[in-house]
Amino acid sequence: METAHRVSPAILRNHLAFAPIVPIRLRTRVVPNTLMKKFNEQGLKSRAEQNFELFNALQKDRQGFNTLREMLHRWTGIHLTDGPASQLKMANRLTRVLCRHELRNYQQYAERLRAEKPGDIAEFVSAMTTNTTRFFREGSHFETLRTIMAEVIETKKRDKSHEIRVWCAATSTGEEAYTLAISVNEALHSEPDLKAKILATDIDLSALQRAATGIYSQERLAKLEPSLVRKYFSRCENADGEAHFQVQPQIQKMVHFAPFNLHTNPYPFERGFDIIFCRNVLIYFSQETAQKIIERLTGALNPGGYLFVGHSEVGYVRAAGLKMKEYSIYRKSA
Ligand SMILES: C[S@@+](CC[C@H](N)C(=O)[O-])C[C@H]1O[C@@H](n2cnc3c(N)ncnc32)[C@H](O)[C@@H]1O
Repeated sequence: METAHRVSPAILRNHLAFAPIVPIRLRTRVVPNTLMKKFNEQGLKSRAEQNFELFNALQKDRQGFNTLREMLHRWTGIHLTDGPASQLKMANRLTRVLCRHELRNYQQYAERLRAEKPGDIAEFVSAMTTNTTRFFREGSHFETLRTIMAEVIETKKRDKSHEIRVWCAATSTGEEAYTLAISVNEALHSEPDLKAKILATDIDLSALQRAATGIYSQERLAKLEPSLVRKYFSRCENADGEAHFQVQPQIQKMVHFAPFNLHTNPYPFERGFDIIFCRNVLIYFSQETAQKIIERLTGALNPGGYLFVGHSEVGYVRAAGLKMKEYSIYRKSA
């Protein structure tokens, strides 16, 4: 589980060429009037019209929605509430997937998913997960991390240990993991005997592949301090010649990306973590599932280790053995 999961540049180039499955939106194409007229005359429907019809039908299919909702919950722990808003969300995210496979309704799609082919499940999960993230998100966490790192460094020196272990448990496209690596690297600048390893996991393989490239558009870096951009990123270009930035190798080397489903039980780690970030993912689970995940995360922490959750996720944390150090930051009893 903890072996390095680096994706070769060739595979990534291929992957990116085939447009990742992540952001799924309904696209309507502008069809020239003459062509539209011809379509209408011939009684044919444009692709956009077909998609829109499918989207409308999916949005109303409550039974199919419930079948897929149940599958999503079983595989990922993600809980979609029952109701029109969730039906709209699912239709929005799955219309393109169904079109891609030339399926006409949720029933056909559920049948396909029941065969449990890894590629199909990965595509479904990727379409249904929300990957919103950014560098230094919830910035106060990284200010507190500075103090915590000073404490962790002292403990490691006292215990004559040379490794700090960090787990970024729902890393999405990597911004959070690299923010952690940059912050930890800053804290370790005068500690040559200490090394940090950051395990960065997510259930969404497509997001992980993007994360492993360490390449971000200028826009994604807009809120980063320019001094950090200069120090930790190198300018590069994408295939269209647009400016992008790649995380520098010394930071990339600190991070190991791997797929991991937080809904798994038990967690497979043989060694504990000093710090775990599990932010802005608990909100997608039911209270009961989130509670179990928090208990397993607590089990994966070293005594005295720290757990960070999203600012809006404090209500989910009720584990024995955790004390709130600061809002949304918890410490396991030493
Ligand atoms: C909104 S993003 C949060 C990213 C980052 N932690 C942050 O705070 O910026 C939520 C991430 O959780 C992942 N996720 C959802 N369910 C998961 C599960 N069961 N196991 C692991 N990751 C999951 C999604 O794929 C997505 O990338």
